Amino acid sequence: MKPNIVILTGAGISQESGIKTFRDANGLWENHDIMEVASPQGWQQNPELVLEFYNQRRRQLHDVQPNAAHHAITRLQQHFPVQVITQNVDDLHERAGNQNVLHLHGELFKVRSDKNPELIYDWHNDLHLGDLAEDGTQLRPHIVWFGEPVPMITNAAELTAVADMFIIVGTGMAVYPAAGLVGYLPPFVPVYYIDPNPATITITNPVTIIREKAGTGLPKLVDQLIREY
Ligand code: APR
Repeated sequence: MKPNIVILTGAGISQESGIKTFRDANGLWENHDIMEVASPQGWQQNPELVLEFYNQRRRQLHDVQPNAAHHAITRLQQHFPVQVITQNVDDLHERAGNQNVLHLHGELFKVRSDKNPELIYDWHNDLHLGDLAEDGTQLRPHIVWFGEPVPMITNAAELTAVADMFIIVGTGMAVYPAAGLVGYLPPFVPVYYIDPNPATITITNPVTIIREKAGTGLPKLVDQLIREY
């Protein structure tokens, strides 16, 4: 039986595509305090700034491409059942052809009603004050901000609980509840962690650290897995 592989990705997998990670930005995200642009308080205090910030991120996303790490996942999916759980709001997994992608923290190319989290729309261009959802309320980015619930975490935990192998790529493992997903792994399930500057993770599962960038480390691991199984 082929192992059921679950891959948890963070900002590091998109770094080589030209998207900055959070940790590397030292608490400043494209020159903004993260709480100013990624919290409900920031949204209340200065919605224009928040909209402009995400408009810039959306425009940037039109200009970047998936990299070798995203493409390696597509290759892995030709040989194994693979589920991707990403903390990223970019769509580079999808554009590389990855299937089964769960976005824990929302998606940059979606917006939603400020009042009703279920009223979600595709949105590829700038979002402005006065752009309204069908319920008549302001649209906001479909992003999980700091301090907000993470509705997809239950699905992510269920998927993690049935993994036979867990691959972590490019995440500082510092933001919960995503970082706590490893706690749902069955015992003995092997974990691979690809990151040039990995965090310490305290679990009893066997962990193999691969201190490489995603664009080199992940294709190599995929080659190895295809050879071995
Ligand atoms: N390849 C692999 N890993 C890399 C690369 C690369 N080319 N470049 C950087 N990294 C690693 C860094 O060493 C770091 O461990 O990626 C990780 C990025 O960590 P963070 O910036 O903390 O990003 P992430 O873990 O995705 O953040 C989690 O925090 O701000 C919130 O909601 C946001 O989803 C985000 C969450």
